Amino acid sequence: MSTNEYKRRRGQLMRMMGPGSIAILPSAPMARRNRDAHYRYRPDSDFYYLTGFPEPNAVLALIPGRKPAEFILFCQERDLDKEVWDGPRYGQEGAKEEFDAEDSFPIGDLDEILPRMLEQCERVYYAMGYSTELDKRMSEWISGIREKSRAGIQGPLEFVALDHYLHDMRLYKSRSEIKKMRDAAKISARAHLRAMQICRPGIGEWQVEAEIIHTCAVAGAREQAYSPIVGGGANGCVLHYIDNRDLLRDGDLLLIDAGCELDCYASDITRTFPVNGRFTAPQQALYELVLEAQLAAIEKVKPGNHWNDPHDAAVRVITRGLIELGILKGDLSSVIEKEAYKRFYMHRTGHWLGMDVHDVGDYKVDGAWRMLEPGMVLTVEPGLYIPGRSKGVARKWWNIGIRIEDDVVVTKTGCEILSKDVPKSVQEIETLMAKQQPER
Ligand code: GLY
Ligand code: MN
Ligand code: MN
Repeated sequence: MSTNEYKRRRGQLMRMMGPGSIAILPSAPMARRNRDAHYRYRPDSDFYYLTGFPEPNAVLALIPGRKPAEFILFCQERDLDKEVWDGPRYGQEGAKEEFDAEDSFPIGDLDEILPRMLEQCERVYYAMGYSTELDKRMSEWISGIREKSRAGIQGPLEFVALDHYLHDMRLYKSRSEIKKMRDAAKISARAHLRAMQICRPGIGEWQVEAEIIHTCAVAGAREQAYSPIVGGGANGCVLHYIDNRDLLRDGDLLLIDAGCELDCYASDITRTFPVNGRFTAPQQALYELVLEAQLAAIEKVKPGNHWNDPHDAAVRVITRGLIELGILKGDLSSVIEKEAYKRFYMHRTGHWLGMDVHDVGDYKVDGAWRMLEPGMVLTVEPGLYIPGRSKGVARKWWNIGIRIEDDVVVTKTGCEILSKDVPKSVQEIETLMAKQQPER
């Protein structure tokens, strides 16, 4: 993302905040894996959305209209001893030169400097409940300001939920964000193709997972947006299966839900295909039902429709199909009304997608489903899950778990499927899997 784009976002937020206000936003802490081993650092999405600043131990303050600086970044000081171990830091000069901060202070000076900025503002934009540490310091700063009331210092009168405003901004993706998400989806698509090509009975779920991660990583996407789900047979019916430790068996389906993160933007793709490359008749019947539901849902992704239209369409197709196959009994409208389909399709048809895989943004506005508008990105991911020994369900349907998930951006006239490079019709999948396996 260009420094201009970050600047535009800060400008949009500050215009909305108006004069007399301050926004305060911390970056994420380092995440500890165990003892003194840490995960590779991932900045907080909100903080990164406004700054592009990639280091931990940083706090952003935005003060619209303040002279001489509206955009202030508190960050780590340069420290040559520490930099020997952890690599270079930007320091205060770098924050100004590379990230356009108009002023920058050492993070250690936060308690001294920020309360003085706070006491001059009437309104504080702050997201409570995300950082316990900063919540605590915020209340200490505010009580410190109250103690000065006899000296005529009044301090803020209003606290406003910053996340509410920021998350609405993040819901509408810019052209460069959509480009980034298209790139991420293309890389993940390559990984899913690779998985289809190397899959065969007898290999381990973890080996398929390794191929996926490898394909993404060599393409420059070293992080997955979430832990990949690689579940053969019965494991495909476990919605959050991430153990990926079983061997893949002839005759089973394999459900893969995996998507890389590229420069802090997520992709989220699911494909389900036969381990041996050929669907059985029951697998194909259920697969084509889920695919029909997914296509019907995607058809509903266009401006003017509301958030729940794709879900309603998917539920209708799936329920009708389950009745036709004898898996559910009753007439269509009463089965939908009683939500009997939820036994086999228990999740919703999608979610917002962006810097976070389950991205931010309200799904309802004033109690009504939100209208879809250009620039919104969502997943469309209906599924069907019939575990083994399902009571009242014929044995031929047991242990079939299917989900088909694409990443879709709402355009002016309809939608664009970012993840369209991975095949999803029965014929395309079988043809691809019948081809000779590629060498790496
Ligand atoms: N991979 C998480 C989801 O599909 O929601
Ligand atoms: Mn997914
Ligand atoms: Mn998803």
